[in-house]
Amino acid sequence: MDKHTTQPYLLDRLKAHAASDSIPMHMPGHKRNIALLGTDLPYNIDITEIEGFDNLHGASGILNEYMEEIAVFYGTKRSYYLVNGSTCGILAGIRAATRRGGKIAVARNCHKSVYHAIELFGLEAVYLMPELDETFGIHGGISTANIADTLTKHPDTQLVVLTSPTYEGVVSDISAIADICHAQGIPLMVDEAHGSHFNYSEHFPTSATALGADIVIQSLHKTLPSLTMTSLAHLNGSLVRPEEMSRQLAIFESSSPSYVLMASIDRCFRLLKDEGEHLFESYNQRLTDFSKKMEQLKHLMVLCHGNDNPSTHPTFFAFDQGKILISAQGTGLTGQELSETLRSYHHIEMEMAYGDHALAMTSVCDTDAAMDALADALLAIDRTLDSLNGEHSQNDGILFFALPEKQCEIWQALESEKIDCPIENAIGQTAAEYVWAYPPGIPLLVPGERINDGFIRQIHTLLEKGTKVYSDADGLPKNIRIMHHERLAH
Ligand SMILES: Cc1ncc(COP(=O)(O)O)c(C=O)c1O
Repeated sequence: MDKHTTQPYLLDRLKAHAASDSIPMHMPGHKRNIALLGTDLPYNIDITEIEGFDNLHGASGILNEYMEEIAVFYGTKRSYYLVNGSTCGILAGIRAATRRGGKIAVARNCHKSVYHAIELFGLEAVYLMPELDETFGIHGGISTANIADTLTKHPDTQLVVLTSPTYEGVVSDISAIADICHAQGIPLMVDEAHGSHFNYSEHFPTSATALGADIVIQSLHKTLPSLTMTSLAHLNGSLVRPEEMSRQLAIFESSSPSYVLMASIDRCFRLLKDEGEHLFESYNQRLTDFSKKMEQLKHLMVLCHGNDNPSTHPTFFAFDQGKILISAQGTGLTGQELSETLRSYHHIEMEMAYGDHALAMTSVCDTDAAMDALADALLAIDRTLDSLNGEHSQNDGILFFALPEKQCEIWQALESEKIDCPIENAIGQTAAEYVWAYPPGIPLLVPGERINDGFIRQIHTLLEKGTKVYSDADGLPKNIRIMHHERLAH
């Protein structure tokens, strides 16, 4: 019998320890004293690296066995528990696969942690622009032609980083992209933060862990039943050394990894391994029923659900049907207003809203009643939109933009002397701060990029539509921080 199938749950080990007569003369300071602290928080199973347990950094005991079990099930060379979210996996993965000051090709719609890695390691960024999905005005996939062209122009690229699926559920052709990268000996890292459920069901796209990506980072907490901050990092192939990945994780992840979070990862994995088939069958059924109901919509549109289907989105290689992106384009409602109506009148809290869109995230844990409530609410709102009272403005208020001209690297702009500039005078100046729409945490402008009129118009449109736009210095919409050119850092 596979030695892993006999493993007790990490949670059971922790409970057994809590029930033992062991006196905790060690961290954490709460000492599992539930008589004093109560049981609302899991003090009882919150321990540190004590005898009989293991140390996540340099794991050689039970944690090593749990992680090996994941690697066997996922078919990876090495899998790591992460307790600081995908953010720490992305930072560690990029650092493990690049050299300081080296070149990295990243999808421009990457999460901010990728930009932070570029900044911290002084990397030279080359951007891969996602395709534009015309119908919804969102980022589509990254094309293979784009990758091939970029790597021909930049053969000295040390790592390619993409987000697939995107926040909205768009999946790129990872297998073909991995082949292109590998033909030049370049590793591919896939930010699969939103796709950790892909490993468990054929109703969803195939995970990058099975498609040749060298590093794959997944947030369990986003789409699977696991506590917030729990993630996995996976390595495959021979282009990234596991020892270096472990070393970098020890830099970017807490030296006191939470056993509560690790028990949650183990529990999530076992639940899905043992009961995933039926959980994903019912999940798929709920999504199919939801999609059918959405066929009645007359004004709102739901991406790849209802009357919209993947064949009308040629830039998508595949789509995660678990994402429900509603477009209110042309109805006079903004995404924020739609989200507020769902909250106030239907008690439904959406994941995010920007421009004309609102996004619902689903998982195996949604109930039939919850999915019915969302469908009924959308149909009820749609019935109130009896005339198209909004101007149909294609791509209005979206996060898509033409790539601004790069003047210098991110770190140079951030380490230069900076001044605040009134936004109306900023055209032609070089940004010395990030500008984000949050969520989803994708930068609209990156330090070192030239500010153009398209960017200024985009900011105004987003703000008018109630989308939250942030800059590091918090001066928007009045001021933006720019570089004082004579003082460029070297
Ligand atoms: C695409 C993407 N990558 C990475 C992250 C970071 O994940 P975590 O919050 O688990 O650190 C996020 C978070 O929103 C994300 O949307």
